[in-house]
Amino acid sequence: MSTFTIIGTGNMGNAIGGLLAAGGSDVVHVGHEQLSSATIDTDVVVLAVPYGAIEDIVSVAGDQLAGKVVVDITNPLNFETFDSLLVPADSSAAAQLQAKLPESSVLKAFNTNFAATLAAKKVGEVPTTVLIAGDDAAAKGVLSAAVTAGGVSAVDAGALSRARELEAIGFLQLTLAVGEQVSWTSGFAVVR
Ligand SMILES: NC(=O)c1ccc[n+]([C@@H]2O[C@H](COP(=O)([O-])OP(=O)(O)OC[C@H]3O[C@@H](n4cnc5c(N)ncnc54)[C@H](OP(=O)(O)O)[C@@H]3O)[C@@H](O)[C@H]2O)c1
Repeated sequence: MSTFTIIGTGNMGNAIGGLLAAGGSDVVHVGHEQLSSATIDTDVVVLAVPYGAIEDIVSVAGDQLAGKVVVDITNPLNFETFDSLLVPADSSAAAQLQAKLPESSVLKAFNTNFAATLAAKKVGEVPTTVLIAGDDAAAKGVLSAAVTAGGVSAVDAGALSRARELEAIGFLQLTLAVGEQVSWTSGFAVVR
């Protein structure tokens, strides 16, 4: 199985770490205070942090991310207005991250999954599905195998350019939850 570093020890860091560990992967957690002194030596690194922290992480640890698969899970919302994303309409947080880390393989994943549904592994009666976008097919395969081993489904959502659509889905899902139209244990399901 693969080994993962997860930067961020909040709701998503713990939920993703639990899922990957349940599937037999080795997981190293790096907290905020540890990041500046951490050695990152796994092939895959999940950035389980707010969108606003990405710039900081790139400047503190960007050198260590070269040659690695970097998983962006952010929903880059304007949380003040709750009415727009903070990235241009023809781009995404993941595309921006890939531009900042040209020697890494960036994947977009998990942003359409509320943390509770990664822990429960179900959305209603349907298995939770992790949608994964990226340009590196091998990297997508590694992440897909690891989350599937953990007990959820994974779907290849296409090229990294599809991250824009994943971020739109995440935005809509958050809008529904904050508006109390759906619960935080809900989510969009994929039935194949
Ligand atoms: N919660 C969900 O259900 C959900 C679903 C889909 C996507 N997401 C996305 O997942 C990401 C994490 O959400 P979350 O709910 O897990 O947030 P959270 O519980 O607030 O955890 C965020 C983590 O990031 C760390 N962090 C913040 N700034 C950092 C920095 N500059 N360097 C290193 N670490 C930093 C925090 O550490 P400190 O607390 O010590 O600062 C904390 O461990 C967000 O981008 C969110 O949009 C969340």
